[in-house]
Amino acid sequence: MLIISSYSLIPVLLVTVVLLLRLKGWYSNTPKPRQLSESIPFVSNTIQYLTDAGTFIDRVTKELASSGSTLVKFYVGLRPAYIVTGAENVQTALGSPHLLDGNFLQLMLMDKHWGMTRAEIDKFASDKSGRGKVPAPEATGVPDGERYWLGHDRLYAEYLSSRKYSDALADSFYRLFVGSLDRQYPLNEWTTVELSALLKSTMAGSAVTSLFGSRIIDLNPGFVERYWEFDDIAGTIGWGLPKFLQRRSIAVKDRLHEMTRRHIDSAWECFDWTANPEDLAWEPHFGSRLSRETARWLRDRGFSNHAAAGPTLATLFGLNGNTVPITTWAMIELIKDPELFRAVREEIDTVYTLDPETDSRRINARKLVNLPLMQSLYVELMRTHVSFNVTREATQSLVIAGCPIEKGALVQVCSRIEHYAEDIWGVEGHPASEFWAYRHVKYVDEPQQGEHKVSAGEAEEKTPQKRQFAMKGRPSAFLPFGGGYVMCPGRQFAKQEILLAIAILVMKFDIEFLEWTDSNGLRSEKPPRDDQRYAGFVAMSPDRGIRVRWKRNH
Ligand SMILES: *[C@@H]1O[C@H](CO)[C@@H](O)[C@H](O)[C@H]1NC(C)=O
Repeated sequence: MLIISSYSLIPVLLVTVVLLLRLKGWYSNTPKPRQLSESIPFVSNTIQYLTDAGTFIDRVTKELASSGSTLVKFYVGLRPAYIVTGAENVQTALGSPHLLDGNFLQLMLMDKHWGMTRAEIDKFASDKSGRGKVPAPEATGVPDGERYWLGHDRLYAEYLSSRKYSDALADSFYRLFVGSLDRQYPLNEWTTVELSALLKSTMAGSAVTSLFGSRIIDLNPGFVERYWEFDDIAGTIGWGLPKFLQRRSIAVKDRLHEMTRRHIDSAWECFDWTANPEDLAWEPHFGSRLSRETARWLRDRGFSNHAAAGPTLATLFGLNGNTVPITTWAMIELIKDPELFRAVREEIDTVYTLDPETDSRRINARKLVNLPLMQSLYVELMRTHVSFNVTREATQSLVIAGCPIEKGALVQVCSRIEHYAEDIWGVEGHPASEFWAYRHVKYVDEPQQGEHKVSAGEAEEKTPQKRQFAMKGRPSAFLPFGGGYVMCPGRQFAKQEILLAIAILVMKFDIEFLEWTDSNGLRSEKPPRDDQRYAGFVAMSPDRGIRVRWKRNH
């Protein structure tokens, strides 16, 4: 999320600074980074950066390719910024917390999104002990209770990423999502649905209830709709634009914040801590254990309920803002390609078991997330549709790719650039720019599981072969969750939720494509593309809908 903060545009100053920099450039003999050209220095690039990320990223990609350089410099307002690429630079950018700080973004969110007070934000800001188990050298002796970053990370590690709780969340999501679909769509009847709207309400509703309980929705009629209004503007609020330019966005954010605040207030009032077991996985007031423990942790450290309503907002955005668009894209790809739909159904069928007790079918979520084609599909969807800038701020001057980076500069790695690198992801016949569900599948001989590799077309030949998941590119070029020491803690659950949702839809429904739809629900001739308004901070939603006819078969 980007941020000019105090670096606002001051045109008069600009001219002077341009001249000074030019002079400085002429007289120094340090290697100079490639600089992105612009017609009005400090202004053109800034405006495009902030308002048209898609085009900006394209220009950076071209500049990198034509210059053969691995780093491009530009200015965001008066602030120098760099986009870096390549394994080594990415490693430096993301793996050097002492030089490149990733906390500043979270501090900005605490202010702009969470509505924390200065004093509350300062608790985090002044904690220099880092996120490691052992405090950073300059902050040894800080008591554990004042290690805010570490404590906050631990909540997520324990109650979200750990298998026990991410399984519990997935289980709850599964039940709610299936229940809601069963109620909405009668058995064996053809109905017309627009899938992206359906997922926005039903999938998001099931995830919200799993994480934050059912009271949050009872207390706040229209909660899920309000969430999507927020989702639309969440990315723009961080940008440090003056308040008067963002009045509507701020009002949308405040309205949702009021709702999450009402939820926190009520949960504290109604939930009986002593009457319930410590490790209860879900109850209606707080919802998941993650939500309950986060509320308690914040309260114990003197944060207000108003501040505690913030992380709810953040978690909702981090989760739904990615899972719903990605699942929608998955369905679009599957419906466009009946052959792929059939292959996916066949694969899921191997983990779809009949529960003799209830006589109902159930997906084994653990096995599901390890299926080769499902994993490949998942990686491919994230690769092609998540656009996320991993952003760091230089806390001191340093050198990347031989170029000096000044203190205070922004250093970014753009998933959009890494994810589309031809040399990393391209396969003959399937360029990196294309979605190809089998990109991360390799075929191995069934009996002895050798390394022998054959192409997809040969799969039916003599020796029985089986699919195995193998990510095509190197892991450091796959950054849908950020990278280095500040990574999205919801990634396991997000993967489970997305694959479960896909599996449920694919197994329960027979689906026929009708038409693409525009924002008014009217027929559109063009197929969907990534909505660039989301570029840079989250998964990009399809810019139009998909209307299908479907029939629930069980
Ligand atoms: C992400 O980076 C692109 C340029 O690479 C920029 O245009 C966009 O504003 C950035 N977005 C965020 C949210 O940082």
